[in-house]
Amino acid sequence: MAKVLIVYGSTTGNTELVADQIGNLLKANGKEVTLKNVLNATVGELGQNYDLTVLGASTWGEDEIELQEDFVPFYEELDKAELNGKKVAVFGCGDSSYTYFCGAVDLLEQKMKELGATLVNEPLRIDGDPSSAAQDIKEWVEEIGNSL
Ligand SMILES: Cc1cc2nc3c(=O)[nH]c(=O)nc-3n(C[C@H](O)[C@H](O)[C@H](O)COP(=O)(O)O)c2cc1C
Repeated sequence: MAKVLIVYGSTTGNTELVADQIGNLLKANGKEVTLKNVLNATVGELGQNYDLTVLGASTWGEDEIELQEDFVPFYEELDKAELNGKKVAVFGCGDSSYTYFCGAVDLLEQKMKELGATLVNEPLRIDGDPSSAAQDIKEWVEEIGNSL
């Protein structure tokens, strides 16, 4: 059974909601899922003993891109993650009325590329209320499932 680690950072609960949905859909697809708030995760466990690592963070800030605050120390450690050649997927919630729509997702995508990780699909960027994005989330998870 393929093992998936999902790590998310969420301030108002939107990215957490999406992380839960991703986890439930993957479980329904027969995957073994470990879901962690970034506060309870370490960079050292990424890619280790998992077939896929999924990272999710919302975007904050006005004039510049700010990662969700709990995610900041984790992001700063990410260079130490042993993700070279490992499968990853990236997602996050944002709002397209801001200059840098889902800028945190862009930062994570860029970092994964620098680390030599393999992105299994295009990053998922949720605009506004995630409860109206159920179909997008479902299709995105199906692509993930096909890569495992
Ligand atoms: C002060 C503030 C700044 C924000 N800045 C951005 C931004 O730069 N880019 C973006 O896409 N969304 C931005 N957002 C929207 C949030 O990312 C969005 O509400 C998201 O759903 C929050 O997810 P969370 O509850 O998982 O933290 C901002 C929201 C607030 C309140």
